[in-house]
Amino acid sequence: MSTTTSEQQQPSSRAGGAFLEVRDLKVHFPTDDGVVKSVDGLSFHLERGQTLGIVGESGSGKSVTSMAIMGLHGKSAQISGSIRLDGEELVGAPPEKVRRLRGKKMAMIFQDPLSSMHPFYTVGNQIIEAYRIHNDVSKKAARTHAIEMLDRVGIPEPNQRVDAYPHQFSGGMRQRAMIAMSLSCDPDLLIADEPTTALDVTVQAQILDLMRDLQKEFNSAVVIITHDLGVVAELADDILVMYAGRSVEYASASQLFNEPEHPYAWGLLGSMPRFDKPPTERLLPIKGVPPSLINVPAGCPFNPRCDFQERVGSPCLHDRPELLDNGAGHRVACHIPSAERRNIWAQEITPRLQ
Ligand SMILES: Nc1ncnc2c1ncn2[C@@H]1O[C@H](COP(=O)(O)OP(=O)(O)O)[C@@H](O)[C@H]1O
Ligand SMILES: [Mg+2]
Repeated sequence: MSTTTSEQQQPSSRAGGAFLEVRDLKVHFPTDDGVVKSVDGLSFHLERGQTLGIVGESGSGKSVTSMAIMGLHGKSAQISGSIRLDGEELVGAPPEKVRRLRGKKMAMIFQDPLSSMHPFYTVGNQIIEAYRIHNDVSKKAARTHAIEMLDRVGIPEPNQRVDAYPHQFSGGMRQRAMIAMSLSCDPDLLIADEPTTALDVTVQAQILDLMRDLQKEFNSAVVIITHDLGVVAELADDILVMYAGRSVEYASASQLFNEPEHPYAWGLLGSMPRFDKPPTERLLPIKGVPPSLINVPAGCPFNPRCDFQERVGSPCLHDRPELLDNGAGHRVACHIPSAERRNIWAQEITPRLQ
C-alpha cells in the first residue's frame, strides 16, 4: 500500500481533551422491533489541522455518528456519552446552542448535495444566506464572498454560476458548491460524509484533491467518512475502522495500511479496488453480511464472518473484545494476541494481496 511508513505516528492523545473529543458515544433508536444500537460505545479524538478517516461498510453507524456530532438527530434518538468540541459539551446541550455552532464552528458535507441544497434557491443565495447567519455583512459583500468561494473550489465562471440553481450543476460541480457553502464560514470542524461516493472516479479524485488543499488553507479539523478505504488512504492522519457501531481498529493511517491487525480491516484492504486489477476482482472479499444492530452477535460482533475465529475459540463467541492499545498507540479490538495477528498479516494475508 502506498502510505509512507518511515516514522510510526500514532493517534495523538492529549490528556486535557482534544479539539474534538468523543467518548463512549452511544446512539440508540427504540423501534417496534427492538432497540437499534447504531453507535454503541465509540471514542475518538481529533485536533485542528488533522484529518480522521472513519471507515466501515454501509450500516456500521458512520452517518449516525456524524449526525450526533452535528446535533441533527430527532428526539427519538437516545444519545449518551460525551462529544466535546473545543471544550464544549454537545451531548445534552440545548438545541439552540448547537444550532449556533453549526456553520461557524462545525459544518458538514453530505453525499448527495441535492438533498441538502434547496432546489428553489440559487446556489449563490444559499451560500450568501449561510454566510450572513454568522457574519454581519451586506448582501453585496456576501455575494462577493460567495463568488470568491465558488472560484476557490474550482467552479468556472463563478460570476455567472453564482446565479444558477443546484439542478443546473453537474454532480461534481454540485459537490464543489456544497463544499463552498460548508466552508463559507470557515468552520473549525468539517465533517464530510461519503463526499465522493456519488461521483465517478475522476471527479472523485478531483474533489479529494480539493479537500486536501482546502484543509491546508483553512487548518480545520476534518472527519472524512467513507465505506472505501481508498478514499482516505492519501488524506487521513488517523483511521478509525467501524463495525456494528463500534471501533474495531483505531490507528495512524500508516499503521492501518502497513500493519493492520483486525481481520475486518484485512477484509476492507482486500476488497479495495485496485488499479492493477480488473475492477470486478476483489482479492479478499469479506464473506457474509453486517449484523443486525438490534441483535448484535454475542462476543466479538465480527465473529460470524471471521476466518480466524476457530484459532482462538470460545472467547470470540462469548466475550466482547475491548479496544486495546498494542503498545504503539495502535488500538485493536480482537481476541487474537497481537503478536499472532501481526504474524497472520505478514505470513498469510500479505501474500494474498500481492
Ligand atoms: N432514525 C433511525 N431509527 C432507527 N434506526 C436508524 C435510524 N437512523 C439510522 N438507523 C440505523 O442505524 C444503522 C447505522 O446507520 P448509518 O449510520 O446511516 O450507517 P452508515 O455507516 O452506512 O452511515 C443502520 O442500521 C440504520 O438503519
Ligand atoms: Mg452513511
